Amino acid sequence: MQKIEHIGIAVKSLEKSNELFTSLFGKPPYKSESVENEGVTTSFFKSGPNKIELLEATKPDSPIAKFIEKKGEGIHHIAFAVDDIMAEIKRLKAAGFIVLNETPKKGADNKLVVFLHPKSTNGVLIELCQDIDKLSPTSSV
Ligand code: CO
Repeated sequence: MQKIEHIGIAVKSLEKSNELFTSLFGKPPYKSESVENEGVTTSFFKSGPNKIELLEATKPDSPIAKFIEKKGEGIHHIAFAVDDIMAEIKRLKAAGFIVLNETPKKGADNKLVVFLHPKSTNGVLIELCQDIDKLSPTSSV
């Protein structure tokens, strides 16, 4: 597992939060993207080497809508970059972590992603992500 790739923040209104974070960082998001299978619209900000992902639900049964209903707006997940997502899934499963999707999904910002269930990680939703461009030719995904 490598560096923190980004921190995901669940927001009610991407429009309002884009404004808020634009004033916070002094620059607008560098990207906005919908991930339809996840029911989210995201926007990405960079601050120095750090990346923040804002997530807004696109439908009432989206995981983000459910999260906000339960906990309110706030930090939703921490994402770590990995070099070999399949190897990490295998390693973490063997170590007893609950992997939410064993086949990596296409996430925002050109990544393959998997999530670890918060009940196996002290209440924190952990995302592992690998750049799609950096997939090894032998990879099975
Ligand atoms: Co994320």
